[in-house]
Amino acid sequence: MTGAVSRKSFGSDNHAGTHPAVMRAIVEANTGDAVAYGADPWTDRAVTGIRRLSGAQGGVYLVLNGSGANVLGLGLLLGRHEAVICAESAHIHTDECGAAERLLGTKLLTVPAPDGKLTPESIASRLAGRGDEHFAQPGVVAVTQSTEFGTCYSLDELRAIKEFCTANGLRVFLDGARLANAAAYLGCALADLAGTADVLSFGGTKNGAMGVEAVIVMQDADGANARYLRKQHGQLSSKMRFLGAQFSALLGDDLWLANAGQANAMAARLATGLADIPGVEIVYPVQSDVVFARLAPGRIAELQRDWTFHVWDEETSVVRWMTAFDTQPSDVDAFLRDIAATAGAVSA
Ligand SMILES: Cc1ncc(COP(=O)(O)O)c(C=O)c1O
Repeated sequence: MTGAVSRKSFGSDNHAGTHPAVMRAIVEANTGDAVAYGADPWTDRAVTGIRRLSGAQGGVYLVLNGSGANVLGLGLLLGRHEAVICAESAHIHTDECGAAERLLGTKLLTVPAPDGKLTPESIASRLAGRGDEHFAQPGVVAVTQSTEFGTCYSLDELRAIKEFCTANGLRVFLDGARLANAAAYLGCALADLAGTADVLSFGGTKNGAMGVEAVIVMQDADGANARYLRKQHGQLSSKMRFLGAQFSALLGDDLWLANAGQANAMAARLATGLADIPGVEIVYPVQSDVVFARLAPGRIAELQRDWTFHVWDEETSVVRWMTAFDTQPSDVDAFLRDIAATAGAVSA
């Protein structure tokens, strides 16, 4: 998968460009000089806005990408001898080149999570060995909302995890690269979601920004080292005003929520259309901006001649079709027509 894509990509929300309002905000911030490393009005506006939206008592730290946000966020909560419990499918485990292990010196204790979600029971299954110096001591539980499979924890599910963690001396980190999609799906306030974590990331990049994420510290006590760790992890942007401008644009008129709602609606439209196409099975509940589907390998190959998307699992013949803030009904409908056309044209 290389180069520019002529038709709308269903490969990733990362394939989408930058929302025009965000681009305008970047251009507007490009006037004269501004003090570096975050001492500028754009960053101040963004940080103040995110703090208000999330209900955080602690700091908000803008960073350059989601992997950096995860390393910084986990690092704020982890003791030197502590491990992280996460789903087998967690991005920190599968897709970040071992960054948490390498940069934080931690151990990831994974648990099977068929729909991408942890539960108090699955977390409990990794608590053996606590108090024994021969075992890495679980200290943090990492949840992803929305999950890598596009599913969303309900608020009750997240609260149950938080309650269990608090009772068991564990802190909660929430990877919110697609938190906006979850808020749009659940119809809840960002603060409701943020309140179920100790530290979380809030993604902008997959939701119309050019490239910015926020690490949100809910209680001040957890954030004492955040400024220093952000710098050590190479996540302190010198020209921070352009990061601040991006988030300010996303917060204006709740663009973040509108963008996520649009992406979710397009995934839902795709799922609805697939129901009428024989031989296509939707694999996970469609609750955010992605549809995982199973169809015959020959049909996948045929579709890939014209469309961009990931084969998620070749063995089980599952693909990932992802929408974005700028996916249009006409994109989805054209894609559906071609998916339907493969039903007759290609034998399994
Ligand atoms: C759930 C989740 N977390 C974190 C990331 C990492 O983001 P980045 O690629 O910006 O480092 C991704 C990227 O796809 C993701 O899907």
